Amino acid sequence: MDNKPVSILITGGAGFIGSNFIPYLLEKYPCYAVVNIDKITYAGNLDNLREAENNNRYRFIKGDICNRELLKLLFNEYDIRGVIHFAAESHVDNSIIGPDVFIQTNVYGTFTVLDVAREYWMQGPGRYRPGYEKCRFHHISTDEVYGSLGETGFFSEDTPYAPNSPYSASKASADMIVKSYYHTYG
Ligand SMILES: NC(=O)c1ccc[n+]([C@@H]2O[C@H](COP(=O)([O-])OP(=O)(O)OC[C@H]3O[C@@H](n4cnc5c(N)ncnc54)[C@H](O)[C@@H]3O)[C@@H](O)[C@H]2O)c1
Repeated sequence: MDNKPVSILITGGAGFIGSNFIPYLLEKYPCYAVVNIDKITYAGNLDNLREAENNNRYRFIKGDICNRELLKLLFNEYDIRGVIHFAAESHVDNSIIGPDVFIQTNVYGTFTVLDVAREYWMQGPGRYRPGYEKCRFHHISTDEVYGSLGETGFFSEDTPYAPNSPYSASKASADMIVKSYYHTYG
């Protein structure tokens, strides 16, 4: 029996959430190997991943999720079977000062990761490459796609989208693209 760990691509793994998630995943699930692609913007910090550095199931790749050729190479090289997509420009205030990079990374970057996964895993709409049926794409959204709350109240997944900042609009756009891939390609 082949006990080789299954490779998962984690995007933005040097950020706040990803750098906590990666050591947790590596420790809890020895059946997975992690390939972490991160551009190391001001928000990324490899110091937070020291405990993963020497793990032979962990690889770090400094790169941009908008780089299609690099992503294709990683899918082929590591035979990626799952994606957990954290990478984003994530600070609302920055999106007000400089929205451009939010559209680049959050919209175009999400599309690129998603489309490379589709190309690698699928033969056509609803048809997986044989052996790739269990591959999954996990996209991380934000509650801010639902707009702003007052002092009280809460959102649910049925709340209509109402993004109010370039950040939340870029995340809402990414959500729509992911949803369209789910419905179009499965
Ligand atoms: N932190 C929160 O409170 C919160 C709440 C809701 C949703 N989210 C979402 O969760 C995800 C992770 O959030 P976080 O707080 O860890 O973000 P973060 O800003 O701390 O980290 C983002 C990471 O993505 C990397 N990155 C940015 N652009 C990139 C690119 N083009 N290519 C490759 N890597 C790139 C950065 O270097 C950084 O390491 C994001 O999608 C965010 O929208 C976060």
